[in-house]
Amino acid sequence: MEIPDLSSMKLPSRPELFDFEGVSMIHYFTDNWERVKNFQARPDDILIATYPKAGTTWVSYILDLLYFGKDTPERQTSQPIYMRVPFLESCFQVIQSGTELADNLLTSPRLIKTHLPVQLVPKSFWEQNSMIVYVARNAKDNAVSYFHFDRMNMAEPEPGDWNTFLQKFMDGKNVFGPWFDHVSGWWKKKETYSNLLYLFYEDLVEDTGHEVERLCSFLGLSTSVEEREKITKGVQFDAMKQNKMTNYSTLPVMDFKISPFMRKGKVGDWKNHFTVAQNEQFDEVYKQKMKNTTVKFRTEI
Ligand code: PPS
Repeated sequence: MEIPDLSSMKLPSRPELFDFEGVSMIHYFTDNWERVKNFQARPDDILIATYPKAGTTWVSYILDLLYFGKDTPERQTSQPIYMRVPFLESCFQVIQSGTELADNLLTSPRLIKTHLPVQLVPKSFWEQNSMIVYVARNAKDNAVSYFHFDRMNMAEPEPGDWNTFLQKFMDGKNVFGPWFDHVSGWWKKKETYSNLLYLFYEDLVEDTGHEVERLCSFLGLSTSVEEREKITKGVQFDAMKQNKMTNYSTLPVMDFKISPFMRKGKVGDWKNHFTVAQNEQFDEVYKQKMKNTTVKFRTEI
């Protein structure tokens, strides 16, 4: 498979947010809904599920290296990560839809990315008992990362200024709905679905090697210590930022002059964005919205 030539791709106008089955969405993720809903998962599929900007690309790349890095190294230099790990619900016209890409994958396992809240995941994943890796990131850093992403990605709704965006984030008016429901919905699922590993972005930053080890043990991989160390090194922020296959620089819909996809990769960058008043208001909203869940996040490490 070649890197798609998207250089002549027309920049779309910003999409509008609308309610879809109770979740804020844009048409790029609902246009193909019948196929998404009826997608046929397989028992050996690995679904990488996240709220946007929680570390999807990072974990996708780790898993791709764990499964295919050694035997097919050319894969790492010939295909961008978004072709190797299809984004299930995406339907951008300029590249194949996520369901088409996934259906055409020849690998076993297939690695598949989704940002869907747990209640919208196609039922075949549960029926097939597929493995699922969920990655969550603390709300404040997640909001900041999402703000910069919406600024630079013309396929996202207009974010407005930081204060406007933060208000929308607290109200759950972002693509894929409220962060609060997403992370707590998936956390609850863990109680009844054992093939689900719930990872935290903060743990990945603090000790990537340890999380790689946890992934291996969850997935039953006997990757050698040397290989794991090599992978851990190769997936560090600076390496991924330089790597054309993982830094999204091949997608013209993203304007890197506004902000790069691989932006900072830090825990605690929210402190450079939140005013004292915004932080106090956010903490209040957070307490209220998270009162019925036991999931706990770290906003600094
Ligand atoms: S997306 O568009 O939803 O798929 O984005 P996603 O990949 O989930 O999240 C992008 C953020 O993850 C950061 N990132 C990393 N941080 C640390 N180390 C590594 N290796 C890494 N890879 C990706 C990326 O920089 C985005 O976060 P911010 O805070 O904006 O830098």
